[in-house]
Amino acid sequence: DPSARTLRAAGAGPFLQPFPSSLCFESSVNVSILVAAVVIFLLVLHHNFLGLSDLLKRELTDSNPLGLQPIDFIPAAPQRLTDERNDKEISVVIAASDERLGGAIAAMNSIYRNTRSNVVFYIVTLNDTVDHLRLWLTNTALKNLRYQILNFDPRVLEGKVQADPQKADSIKPLTFARFYLPSLVPHAEKAIYVDDDIIVQDDILELYNTPLKPGHAAAFSDDCDSTTNKVAVRGAGNQYNYIGFLDYKKETIRKLAMKANTCSFNPGVFVANLTEWKLQNITKQLEKWMTLNVAEELYSRTLAGSITTPPLLIVFYKQHSSIDPLWNVRHLGSNAGKRYSPQFVKAAKLLHWNGHFKPWGRTASYAEVWEKWYVPDPTGKFSLIRRHPEAYEAK
Ligand SMILES: *[C@@H]1O[C@H](CO)[C@@H](O)[C@H](O)[C@H]1NC(C)=O
Ligand SMILES: *[C@@H]1O[C@H](CO)[C@@H](O)[C@H](O)[C@H]1NC(C)=O
Ligand SMILES: *[C@@H]1O[C@H](CO)[C@@H](O)[C@H](O)[C@H]1NC(C)=O
Repeated sequence: DPSARTLRAAGAGPFLQPFPSSLCFESSVNVSILVAAVVIFLLVLHHNFLGLSDLLKRELTDSNPLGLQPIDFIPAAPQRLTDERNDKEISVVIAASDERLGGAIAAMNSIYRNTRSNVVFYIVTLNDTVDHLRLWLTNTALKNLRYQILNFDPRVLEGKVQADPQKADSIKPLTFARFYLPSLVPHAEKAIYVDDDIIVQDDILELYNTPLKPGHAAAFSDDCDSTTNKVAVRGAGNQYNYIGFLDYKKETIRKLAMKANTCSFNPGVFVANLTEWKLQNITKQLEKWMTLNVAEELYSRTLAGSITTPPLLIVFYKQHSSIDPLWNVRHLGSNAGKRYSPQFVKAAKLLHWNGHFKPWGRTASYAEVWEKWYVPDPTGKFSLIRRHPEAYEAK
């Protein structure tokens, strides 16, 4: 438990300090040597603790570029949310597309191996991936995973997305699966959605227990109150606020009166209250904005061109709760991710390789952290792209 460890580390300073001065007056040489050894040991220990807590503080509480309140969530998390344990099903929805199926496999394996809860995966995929996925899940160490495969019919998107004629294959239907959560897990009141380019390093029950405020249908990780962005934001332009995603020159957007410098959030990991989602017709609202975008091109063109984030930003404007930033430590797939310290990556509860460099590709950061959770494809169709492929075949 990294947060408990840090708390202890922070408390260790004042406790250890008095020792050296009170013991230095011993007369015996042997005792002095012993004492000196103990003192050095304690100083080293102390220094290491300070080093780690300083480092975490530095990474977590830097003031953000918008001058909003920095958050220091370590002291604010005195009690683990996982304490409320029971056998209730934890529904986790994940989308799995064929060309990156290894991502979903590693994500699910990491969640499954790190929880004692009754997690059930709802794997949304296209009909031509079902057989491949089923073979991978049944012929490997994943055979005890509880899951249900759901077929996503891309026809629901007709009229709501416009393929870019410049880029063949630019629409990835499965990225919209998250808009349809209540129909994917109709029995669940609460569900988690995760992208396929993540791995989890702690019990997902804690994420599931994220409290949602009354009237909120979902909780996301904001783009400027957390650590992870500080690192990424430098040089990233407006990637962390609304104006980076929406075209404020358009009348339809201006009429919404949403502040352009509002912090955006990352929709790759979220917790949803599906009762509230249905009450507010969130899916209908999202579809409305998709359709409007086809007609009026409402999204900003300056960025990577996300077409899934903008409708969510509109519908959830000032209407969402927050998840602990350690549950979505992102940008590992961009150059920014390379700047995280190994200690920080280790302390993260969820690592997210959003960006171009996926951990199954050739040039990812922290690919070795991801690979601990990867289960090779028994059909051999999917393989990791590595600099030294022989090393992987040998395993
Ligand atoms: C898969 O779905 C598409 C439409 O979504 C359909 O045209 C195709 O026939 C389906 N393929 C199979 C193997 O069911
Ligand atoms: C979900 O939302 C409904 C309707 O607002 C509310 O009654 C319920 O308590 C919420 N559930 C959770 C787990 O937050
Ligand atoms: C959601 O849709 C239902 C049925 O279409 C409607 O009765 C209800 O008023 C809608 N709720 C909101 C908040 O728009």
